[in-house]
Amino acid sequence: MINRSGQPERVVSGMRPTGRVHLGHYHGVLKSWIDLQHKYDCFFFIADWHALTTHYEDDLSMIGRYAREMVIDWLAAGVDPGRVTMFIQSRVPEHAELDVLLSMITPLSWLERVPSYKDQQEKLKERELATHGFLGYPVLQSADILIYCANHVPVGEDQVPHVELTREVARRFNYLFGRDPGYADKAEEAIKKLGKKGARLYRNLRAAYLEQGDQEALAKARALLEENQNVAIVEKERLYGYLEGRGRIILEEPAALLTAASKLPGLDGEKMSKSYDNIIALRDDPHRVEKGLRAMPTDPARKRRHDPGDPQKCPVWDLHQVYSDHEVKEWVQDGCRSAAIGCLDCKQPLIDAVLAEQQLMHTRAAPYADDPTLVRNIIADGCERARTVATQTLDEVRRSMGLEYY
Ligand code: TRP
Ligand code: SF4
Repeated sequence: MINRSGQPERVVSGMRPTGRVHLGHYHGVLKSWIDLQHKYDCFFFIADWHALTTHYEDDLSMIGRYAREMVIDWLAAGVDPGRVTMFIQSRVPEHAELDVLLSMITPLSWLERVPSYKDQQEKLKERELATHGFLGYPVLQSADILIYCANHVPVGEDQVPHVELTREVARRFNYLFGRDPGYADKAEEAIKKLGKKGARLYRNLRAAYLEQGDQEALAKARALLEENQNVAIVEKERLYGYLEGRGRIILEEPAALLTAASKLPGLDGEKMSKSYDNIIALRDDPHRVEKGLRAMPTDPARKRRHDPGDPQKCPVWDLHQVYSDHEVKEWVQDGCRSAAIGCLDCKQPLIDAVLAEQQLMHTRAAPYADDPTLVRNIIADGCERARTVATQTLDEVRRSMGLEYY
């Protein structure tokens, strides 16, 4: 997909290194990343500063350990370092500068009404989260996204309000700083480059939109700009803004790309989550996996081998949804309801499928696990590329805020 500037559209997402990557992540977020890497210019990063906002009192050597393992897990899952820019947030300090600048224009009330602010304080009662950093978390996240001019941000449902806030912050920024001195004069200059006919058309369409709210005129004017080859990108941006009576777009508004929540149950039958201590890690010990799955709870109605059960009431069935083909699923349905199979029989194809998947992960991870310099190089390259893009945005931000003096 190509954006307005003729560049491939960009995707940005981050993951907090606060635990091991598990199969819930794989069948949710990671699979969507792997899909997206073929369609977009993807930037995926280790959100280590974000981990600090909640975990600053923990043993912080864990963050580094989880981060290193996390990169290997991404690679094992199939994230392609040749396509994707993989980096570490804290190695791109430009995020922090943009965070500071954005925090100047973000009203406190916007942050206080982000649902995760109160929710997390409720949920993580044992942690002291009434901190500046935790309240400001969504501004930092906005900086993460806006600094790469991301078009799409793949996130779970809980993160959608953060992307929404990012859009509001970008809009406010553009409103405040997108009208440089001589804004209208510069726009008028740019209009001339559309040619005589083009300029007349643009002016008429703009007037129709601004004076009568004519949406069709707006669409036509946008198409006119899109087709035009003679106007530089910066000037085009100016004309897009002028068209709608707002400033030039400096920070582009991203859209949330909702990744379907993985319903993968954990080893205790509840949703797989590190906070429930019920995970199967992406690269786990095969014996632990097998033992865990064999012990996994099933439909309580099946107390004895000959008691019939109902897959609908069994978390093992949810795993079959992910791992088994139609035939196996039919076999489970019939066998469970008629008590023709026992629960261990039922689990066997699942155990085989999960172990085969784990084997693949272990194999793909092996070269990276064996030679840490490989991962170090991938991350070093990623950080460099990320900084190049981030610096460009930040230069533009500084300029538009009048911070480029002397
Ligand atoms: N807040 C996200 C989470 O907890 C992680 C994150 C940080 C992120 N910065 C981001 C996700 C930017 C997407 C884009 O999962
Ligand atoms: Fe669950 Fe399978 Fe046992 Fe039925 S037979 S209760 S689906 S594990």
